[in-house]
Amino acid sequence: MNTSSPTAPGSIQIVPSVLPADFARLGDECAVLEEAGVDRIQWDVMDGVFVPNLTFGPDVIAACRPHAGVMFEAHLMVADPDPMLGAYVDAGCEMLIVHAESVTHLHRTLSRVAELGAQPAVAINPSTPIDAVAHVLDLVDMVLVMTVNPGFGGQAYIATMEPKIAALRQLISGSGAAGASGAGIDIEVDGGISAETIGGAAAAGANVLVSGSALYRYDEGLAHGVADLRCRAEAAFRA
Ligand code: DX5
Repeated sequence: MNTSSPTAPGSIQIVPSVLPADFARLGDECAVLEEAGVDRIQWDVMDGVFVPNLTFGPDVIAACRPHAGVMFEAHLMVADPDPMLGAYVDAGCEMLIVHAESVTHLHRTLSRVAELGAQPAVAINPSTPIDAVAHVLDLVDMVLVMTVNPGFGGQAYIATMEPKIAALRQLISGSGAAGASGAGIDIEVDGGISAETIGGAAAAGANVLVSGSALYRYDEGLAHGVADLRCRAEAAFRA
């Protein structure tokens, strides 16, 4: 049973990637992240095929579920997400993020996520145009614009994604689509988000911001990092 409530669409959300966390203590790390004030936690699910890295499956996420009440989102960087969608929902993920590049029938996959009771979201890699999601906006609560090529934390932010984020914001507002839940469509960015880059992404129109290595690098600790990133995003955000 999912324990957390979805975050309010349109508001600034600071979302940690758990990639830099101590994998030997992931449950405790989730509790620490919640304590630090994050709005949700992103699980970077990697299969070694869609991306050249391998991380965790639903059982690891399920083991961590009882340790935090915040929403879990599974970022499915996998070559064939369809057979395991239910397993990630059962593991306690309230949102599933499917890469447009990873499925043949994106419309059907996103509809299935909603049937399973989770919030559907779609991700696009840096080279994928926003047109790839133009006809599924009514099926998603969020679009993730990757600001690195997926597979690893600690990569450099690709600033040329900012016009793409702004164009997506225009596409969403011009479409009149209210999203899968009817409460609007968030834009998330993931990759290289730091104190130096978060302002550009938020100004372009991203309101959900994933940070891994930069968040964990704050000498003053995670709570300070979350607050600093939130403050910078709120100051810059333009829908
Ligand atoms: C890429 C991963 C990373 C991670 C965030 O596949 O999805 O983007 O979440 O990593 P940082 O914030 O270290 O770039």
